[in-house]
Amino acid sequence: MDVATAIRTRRSHKLFTGAVVPDRVLAELVELATWAPNHKFTEPWRFTVVPQRALPALVAAIGRALASRADIAPEKARAQTDKIAAILAGAGGAIAVRQALTGADLERQREDYAACACAIQNIQLAAWDRGIGSYWTTSDAFIGPALAEHWHRADDEIMVGVVVLGVAAAEQKAVRYKRPEELTVWLDVPEIGL
Ligand SMILES: Cc1cc2nc3c(=O)[nH]c(=O)nc-3n(C[C@H](O)[C@H](O)[C@H](O)COP(=O)(O)O)c2cc1C
Repeated sequence: MDVATAIRTRRSHKLFTGAVVPDRVLAELVELATWAPNHKFTEPWRFTVVPQRALPALVAAIGRALASRADIAPEKARAQTDKIAAILAGAGGAIAVRQALTGADLERQREDYAACACAIQNIQLAAWDRGIGSYWTTSDAFIGPALAEHWHRADDEIMVGVVVLGVAAAEQKAVRYKRPEELTVWLDVPEIGL
């Protein structure tokens, strides 16, 4: 698949077939993530790989964390856990991306966060190129403080997101409300139409 096709056809998927994402593919996705642009060579990304066999333990940890939340009613916590369990039951693996806080200044952290987001995009596009769908979640149930230990997140790191991976079981519709020309200013008359 060429890059343009991968970019245009990648969609967020949550319905998966149950097929495993092999360890070697998970490792390759991490390796490809590390080629993302990053300012000052901070390489701020850190990864926690969840092979399919480790997904049940993740669901259990999420369930425990939600059940212990005083601000969520027990029925709501159970319903949310069940929903996540249903998604992960079909998934083939997952990769959490953590950001090392490499400097105290906010500008550095902002740039490092941007770099980690690029790393996640690398994972999603490279996965899609290998026939694997994915979605990026920043849901508190996945990345909230109660899961810090499960992810091996150090005190000087923040969670950027979790990429859930699997062979997609259904097509997803593309949603794009704005056209590129509505979003773009040219500093000259364009030679060609967008
Ligand atoms: C920072 C960020 C956080 C996201 N968090 C979630 C999430 O928590 N749950 C979810 O279902 N999708 C999440 N997404 C995926 C977006 O909802 C998805 O990319 C968007 O709907 C566009 O659909 P597409 O990826 O199929 O183009 C997130 C995307 C980004 C960039």
